[in-house]
Amino acid sequence: MAAPSGCNRQTTSFVVVDDEDLLKMLRSVIDPPLGETAPALICVLTRRVNAYRGRSVAVQDYAAAIENMLLMITALGYASCWYEGYLTDERGIGRKMAGILAIPDGCELVCMLPVGRPARGAVRPPKKGIGERVRFNRESW
Ligand SMILES: Cc1cc2nc3c(=O)[nH]c(=O)nc-3n(C[C@H](O)[C@H](O)[C@H](O)COP(=O)(O)O)c2cc1C
Repeated sequence: MAAPSGCNRQTTSFVVVDDEDLLKMLRSVIDPPLGETAPALICVLTRRVNAYRGRSVAVQDYAAAIENMLLMITALGYASCWYEGYLTDERGIGRKMAGILAIPDGCELVCMLPVGRPARGAVRPPKKGIGERVRFNRESW
C-alpha cells in the first residue's frame, strides 16, 4: 500500500485469502495447479484509470506494489512468486478467480502471490552479469 503510484491514484488493491474453503475454491480453477501448499494467497487487483494526460500507468502501479510485497515476504522469511502470465492468458484463470472472490466491475485480478514458508532454499535462475546490463555514463555497449 505504500508503493508509489502515478499521480497517487492508488489503482492497486489487494485480496488476502487465508480461508481454507475459499482457497480450495480458488485452487479448483487454478489448473494446472500452482502454489497448492501455500496457506495464503495475495490477489492483486488493478483499476486501469487515467492518471496523467489521459494515460493509465496502472501496470507500473501494481508492479511497484508487487515488488514491495515480494521484498517484504522474503525479508520476513516467507517465499512467493509473481504469477501474472498464468492468470491473464487466454484461459482466463484470473477472471474465474475474480468471480469466486466477487471482485467488483472495473477491477481486474492481474496477479497472485502464494505466500508460505519455503520447504527449501530458493533456486535462483541465472542472471546476466553486470557487464551485460549496466553502463556508467557513456561507456559503450
Ligand atoms: C510480470 C511478470 C509475470 C510473471 N508471471 C509468471 C507466471 O505466470 N508464471 C510463473 O511461473 N512465473 C511468473 N513470473 C515469475 C518469473 O518467471 C520470474 O520472476 C523469473 O523467472 C525470474 O526469476 P526470479 O524472480 O527468481 O529471479 C512472472 C514475473 C513477472 C515480473
